[in-house]
Amino acid sequence: MNLSHLRAGLIGTGFIGPVHLEALKRLGVQVTAVCGSTKSATALAEKWGIPEVYGNYDYEALLKSPNVDVVHITSPNKVHVKQALAAIKAGKHVVCEKPLGMTTKETSALVKVAKKAKTVFAVNYNCRFFPGILQMRKMVQRGDLGRIIHVQGHFFQDWLLKQSDYNWRLLASEGGKLRAVGDIGTHWMDAVSFILGAKVDSVFATLETFHKKRLRPKGEVQTFAKVDPKDMIEYAVDTEDFASILLQYQRAKHGFADRVHANASISQVAAGWKCSLAIGIYGTEGSVRWELQEPNVLHVGRRDQPNETRQRFAPGFHEDIAHFSDYPGGHAEGFPDSHKMHYRCVYEHVASGKTTEPLFASIDDGHEEVKLCEAILRANRAQRWIKV
Ligand SMILES: NC(=O)c1ccc[n+]([C@@H]2O[C@H](COP(=O)([O-])OP(=O)(O)OC[C@H]3O[C@@H](n4cnc5c(N)ncnc54)[C@H](O)[C@@H]3O)[C@@H](O)[C@H]2O)c1
Repeated sequence: MNLSHLRAGLIGTGFIGPVHLEALKRLGVQVTAVCGSTKSATALAEKWGIPEVYGNYDYEALLKSPNVDVVHITSPNKVHVKQALAAIKAGKHVVCEKPLGMTTKETSALVKVAKKAKTVFAVNYNCRFFPGILQMRKMVQRGDLGRIIHVQGHFFQDWLLKQSDYNWRLLASEGGKLRAVGDIGTHWMDAVSFILGAKVDSVFATLETFHKKRLRPKGEVQTFAKVDPKDMIEYAVDTEDFASILLQYQRAKHGFADRVHANASISQVAAGWKCSLAIGIYGTEGSVRWELQEPNVLHVGRRDQPNETRQRFAPGFHEDIAHFSDYPGGHAEGFPDSHKMHYRCVYEHVASGKTTEPLFASIDDGHEEVKLCEAILRANRAQRWIKV
């Protein structure tokens, strides 16, 4: 499908904004407008030849542009809902970064508005679009693994391991009350719900903050930026570094996953793991495991037959997943490609007048993850199972 008639505008020019931009360019989508701090929006526009620049975080001016069909919200969490509401009101389609918002109070208000709109709304749970994840979903749907019994995995990073590592996400006021879970745990939970075709019914969780006090720079820094500890001040940390979560899922729509149990560890202080999202799905006939740091392979486990390692874009991956992979087997695809495939799905849905399959995370899915975060917080405080 030709997507070159669709025009995108980007709000937020830090780490992930340029990832969206590159992916859109690779799809042939026109990127016509960018908004952020005056300095970084101007620099990004110059680099990529983007005609409209809205500095000083003036997203309202960008939303008035008649040259933008789809708005990508890649700003920090606390402004997502405000900017998404304004974008819907301006008649734009929206791709909003995760988490959808800070609280369910604000995301439920957004859900109501988005549902009345005729436009498309997607939340950027891009991990759904790794071919390995799509393949696992297919295997569960077809019953290849028998009845699903349990799921196990983690999302580990180490970029916040040191006391002097700083980012706005560390502050509950900036990123939300749950940090590791909200930031990366929701990717894991969204991917598992997507694979199983089932929602979480109840949760139990233990959260831990290893650095009760951390150091922060005197000014703002971009994600993953390095700052000299000599130029920092101490502050009390009010978000978790680590979470241990137990989940129980509702019955799946397709019938192969019924009351599935899952457990996940989420950590941003796991030395050596740069960005490792791992999921293992275990059924009565076999299992399948996948890992974001080796995204082109799937490991299939059997009791009475040899185990298999399956390669992306090779026999063993279903044909309809090929649409979400552009290079032959052996030519590694990874994180940037998952964004490209996600936006392909969203833009094709827009271009088709909403007739293609919306595999992307919907506004409801985005809201569901914020709901899960609140349930996890309650479960940790009460130290008991909480119904979602
Ligand atoms: N899907 C993914 O894989 C993924 C990965 C990283 C980040 N994210 C999400 O993307 C969002 C941004 O994260 P990041 O890592 O790029 O952060 P970042 O701090 O690197 O970048 C945020 C940018 O937004 C700008 N900004 C601040 N206030 C703004 C406002 N009011 N309007 C417009 N821009 C504003 C900042 O100047 C900065 O350039 C977060 O919600 C995060 O959870 C998603």
